[in-house]
Amino acid sequence: MSFQKINIQDLQMNAWNDIGKHWMLITAGDDQKVNTMTASWGGVGVLWGQDVVHAYIRPQRYTKQFVDQQSCFSLSFFDDHKKELSVLGSVSGRDTDKIKDVDFHVTYLDGVPTFEEARLVFIVEKIYEDLIKPENFIDSSLNEKWYPDQDYHTVYIAKIKGVYVQKA
Ligand SMILES: Cc1cc2nc3c(=O)[nH]c(=O)nc-3n(C[C@H](O)[C@H](O)[C@H](O)COP(=O)(O)O)c2cc1C
Repeated sequence: MSFQKINIQDLQMNAWNDIGKHWMLITAGDDQKVNTMTASWGGVGVLWGQDVVHAYIRPQRYTKQFVDQQSCFSLSFFDDHKKELSVLGSVSGRDTDKIKDVDFHVTYLDGVPTFEEARLVFIVEKIYEDLIKPENFIDSSLNEKWYPDQDYHTVYIAKIKGVYVQKA
Protein backbone atom coordinates (compact mmCIF):
# COMPACT_ATOMS: atom_id res chain seq x y z
CA MET A 1 0.00 0.00 0.00
CA SER A 2 1.22 3.50 -0.73
CA PHE A 3 -0.23 6.99 -0.72
CA GLN A 4 -0.85 9.36 -3.59
CA LYS A 5 -1.35 13.07 -3.22
CA ILE A 6 -4.64 14.36 -4.59
CA ASN A 7 -6.12 17.74 -5.35
CA ILE A 8 -8.37 18.88 -2.50
CA GLN A 9 -11.12 19.66 -5.03
CA ASP A 10 -11.22 15.95 -5.93
CA LEU A 11 -11.76 14.89 -2.32
CA GLN A 12 -15.01 13.08 -1.51
CA MET A 13 -15.72 13.78 2.13
CA ASN A 14 -18.65 14.10 4.50
CA ALA A 15 -17.25 15.57 7.72
CA TRP A 16 -20.27 14.55 9.80
CA ASN A 17 -19.78 10.92 8.87
CA ASP A 18 -16.00 10.81 8.49
CA ILE A 19 -15.18 12.71 11.69
CA GLY A 20 -18.30 12.45 13.83
CA LYS A 21 -19.28 8.85 13.14
CA HIS A 22 -16.14 7.07 11.94
CA TRP A 23 -13.61 9.19 13.89
CA MET A 24 -10.06 10.24 13.00
CA LEU A 25 -6.60 10.12 14.50
CA ILE A 26 -4.68 13.26 15.39
CA THR A 27 -1.00 12.37 15.14
CA ALA A 28 2.18 14.36 15.70
CA GLY A 29 5.82 13.82 16.45
CA ASP A 30 9.22 13.50 14.86
CA ASP A 31 11.41 10.66 13.61
CA GLN A 32 12.14 9.64 17.23
CA LYS A 33 8.75 9.68 18.95
CA VAL A 34 5.17 9.84 17.74
CA ASN A 35 1.85 9.90 19.55
CA THR A 36 -1.72 9.71 18.39
CA MET A 37 -5.25 10.02 19.74
CA THR A 38 -8.74 9.46 18.44
CA ALA A 39 -10.95 12.48 17.85
CA SER A 40 -14.58 12.81 16.83
CA TRP A 41 -14.82 16.57 17.15
CA GLY A 42 -13.42 18.84 14.51
CA GLY A 43 -14.04 20.02 11.02
CA VAL A 44 -12.83 21.13 7.63
CA GLY A 45 -13.51 24.33 5.75
CA VAL A 46 -12.16 27.62 4.49
CA LEU A 47 -10.79 30.42 6.66
CA TRP A 48 -8.57 33.40 6.00
CA GLY A 49 -8.54 32.41 2.34
CA GLN A 50 -7.07 29.00 3.10
CA ASP A 51 -8.26 25.40 3.22
CA VAL A 52 -8.21 24.50 6.89
CA VAL A 53 -9.08 21.91 9.52
CA HIS A 54 -9.99 22.58 13.12
CA ALA A 55 -9.33 20.17 15.96
CA TYR A 56 -10.01 20.26 19.71
CA ILE A 57 -7.62 18.77 22.26
CA ARG A 58 -8.02 18.69 26.04
CA PRO A 59 -5.00 19.67 28.12
CA GLN A 60 -4.47 16.23 29.67
CA ARG A 61 -3.95 14.45 26.34
CA TYR A 62 -0.37 13.28 25.83
CA THR A 63 -0.83 13.96 22.11
CA LYS A 64 -1.21 17.66 22.93
CA GLN A 65 2.46 17.87 23.88
CA PHE A 66 3.41 16.48 20.47
CA VAL A 67 1.05 18.78 18.59
CA ASP A 68 2.39 21.76 20.55
CA GLN A 69 6.02 20.85 19.85
CA GLN A 70 5.57 20.56 16.09
CA SER A 71 4.45 23.03 13.46
CA CYS A 72 2.55 20.26 11.61
CA PHE A 73 0.36 17.30 12.49
CA SER A 74 -1.81 14.86 10.57
CA LEU A 75 -5.46 13.87 10.57
CA SER A 76 -5.92 10.26 9.47
CA PHE A 77 -9.12 8.52 8.44
CA PHE A 78 -9.72 4.76 8.25
CA ASP A 79 -12.00 2.04 6.95
CA ASP A 80 -12.83 -0.84 9.27
CA HIS A 81 -10.51 0.01 12.15
CA LYS A 82 -12.97 1.18 14.80
CA LYS A 83 -11.65 -1.31 17.35
CA GLU A 84 -8.16 0.11 17.01
CA LEU A 85 -9.44 3.69 17.16
CA SER A 86 -11.38 2.84 20.33
CA VAL A 87 -8.15 1.69 21.97
CA LEU A 88 -6.17 4.70 20.72
CA GLY A 89 -8.95 6.88 22.14
CA SER A 90 -9.11 5.28 25.57
CA VAL A 91 -5.49 4.48 26.43
CA SER A 92 -2.74 7.09 26.78
CA GLY A 93 0.57 6.89 24.97
CA ARG A 94 2.06 7.96 28.31
CA ASP A 95 1.24 4.56 29.76
CA THR A 96 1.76 2.10 26.94
CA ASP A 97 3.02 1.75 23.36
CA LYS A 98 -0.57 1.79 22.13
CA ILE A 99 0.38 2.17 18.45
CA LYS A 100 2.26 -1.11 18.62
CA ASP A 101 -0.51 -2.70 20.68
CA VAL A 102 -3.09 -2.09 17.92
CA ASP A 103 -0.57 -3.15 15.23
CA PHE A 104 -0.65 0.18 13.39
CA HIS A 105 2.45 1.23 11.49
CA VAL A 106 3.79 4.77 11.43
CA THR A 107 4.73 6.23 8.07
CA TYR A 108 5.69 9.80 7.15
CA LEU A 109 4.13 12.08 4.54
CA ASP A 110 5.92 15.40 4.02
CA GLY A 111 7.90 14.48 7.15
CA VAL A 112 4.76 14.26 9.30
CA PRO A 113 3.71 11.00 10.97
CA THR A 114 0.56 9.12 9.98
CA PHE A 115 -0.30 5.45 9.52
CA GLU A 116 0.09 2.94 6.70
CA GLU A 117 -3.40 1.70 7.53
CA ALA A 118 -5.13 5.05 6.82
CA ARG A 119 -7.32 5.51 3.74
CA LEU A 120 -7.17 9.33 3.78
CA VAL A 121 -4.64 11.67 5.39
CA PHE A 122 -4.50 15.44 5.80
CA ILE A 123 -1.08 16.90 6.49
CA VAL A 124 -1.71 20.22 8.17
CA GLU A 125 0.26 23.16 9.53
CA LYS A 126 -0.93 25.09 12.58
CA ILE A 127 -1.89 28.71 11.92
CA TYR A 128 -3.96 29.63 14.99
CA GLU A 129 -4.77 28.27 18.41
CA ASP A 130 -6.95 29.36 21.28
CA LEU A 131 -8.43 27.98 24.46
CA ILE A 132 -12.17 27.47 24.88
CA LYS A 133 -13.24 30.02 27.49
CA PRO A 134 -16.16 29.50 29.89
CA GLU A 135 -17.24 33.14 29.71
CA ASN A 136 -17.63 32.91 25.94
CA PHE A 137 -20.38 30.28 26.00
CA ILE A 138 -23.66 31.71 24.79
CA ASP A 139 -25.33 28.43 25.71
CA SER A 140 -23.89 27.93 29.20
CA SER A 141 -25.41 24.45 29.50
CA LEU A 142 -22.66 23.25 27.15
CA ASN A 143 -20.03 24.51 29.55
CA GLU A 144 -21.68 22.65 32.41
CA LYS A 145 -22.16 19.49 30.38
CA TRP A 146 -18.73 19.19 28.80
CA TYR A 147 -16.38 20.89 31.26
CA PRO A 148 -17.25 19.83 34.85
CA ASP A 149 -13.49 19.57 35.42
CA GLN A 150 -12.65 22.85 33.66
CA ASP A 151 -10.42 20.96 31.25
CA TYR A 152 -11.07 23.25 28.33
CA HIS A 153 -10.04 22.18 24.85
CA THR A 154 -7.41 24.01 22.90
CA VAL A 155 -8.76 24.80 19.44
CA TYR A 156 -6.22 24.34 16.65
CA ILE A 157 -6.82 25.78 13.22
CA ALA A 158 -4.39 24.40 10.69
CA LYS A 159 -4.00 24.87 6.96
CA ILE A 160 -4.12 21.81 4.77
CA LYS A 161 -0.75 21.27 3.07
CA GLY A 162 -1.44 17.89 1.53
CA VAL A 163 -4.29 15.45 1.01
CA TYR A 164 -3.28 11.83 0.50
CA VAL A 165 -5.29 8.72 -0.33
CA GLN A 166 -4.26 5.10 -0.71
CA LYS A 167 -3.35 4.21 -4.28
CA ALA A 168 -5.96 1.97 -5.82
C1 LIG B 1 -14.54 8.48 19.74
C2 LIG B 1 -13.59 9.33 20.54
C3 LIG B 1 -13.47 10.66 20.26
C4 LIG B 1 -12.59 11.49 20.98
N1 LIG B 1 -12.47 12.80 20.63
C5 LIG B 1 -11.60 13.58 21.32
C6 LIG B 1 -11.42 14.95 20.94
O1 LIG B 1 -11.97 15.46 19.94
N2 LIG B 1 -10.58 15.71 21.71
C7 LIG B 1 -9.93 15.21 22.81
O2 LIG B 1 -9.19 15.93 23.49
N3 LIG B 1 -10.06 13.88 23.15
C8 LIG B 1 -10.86 13.07 22.43
N4 LIG B 1 -10.98 11.75 22.75
C9 LIG B 1 -10.20 11.19 23.88
C10 LIG B 1 -8.75 10.83 23.52
O3 LIG B 1 -8.67 10.17 22.26
C11 LIG B 1 -8.20 9.88 24.61
O4 LIG B 1 -8.23 10.54 25.86
C12 LIG B 1 -6.84 9.32 24.31
O5 LIG B 1 -6.64 8.19 25.12
C13 LIG B 1 -5.71 10.31 24.51
O6 LIG B 1 -4.51 9.67 24.30
P1 LIG B 1 -3.09 10.32 24.62
O7 LIG B 1 -3.05 10.63 26.12
O8 LIG B 1 -2.09 9.27 24.22
O9 LIG B 1 -3.00 11.56 23.81
C14 LIG B 1 -11.83 10.92 22.04
C15 LIG B 1 -11.95 9.55 22.34
C16 LIG B 1 -12.81 8.75 21.59
C17 LIG B 1 -12.91 7.28 21.91
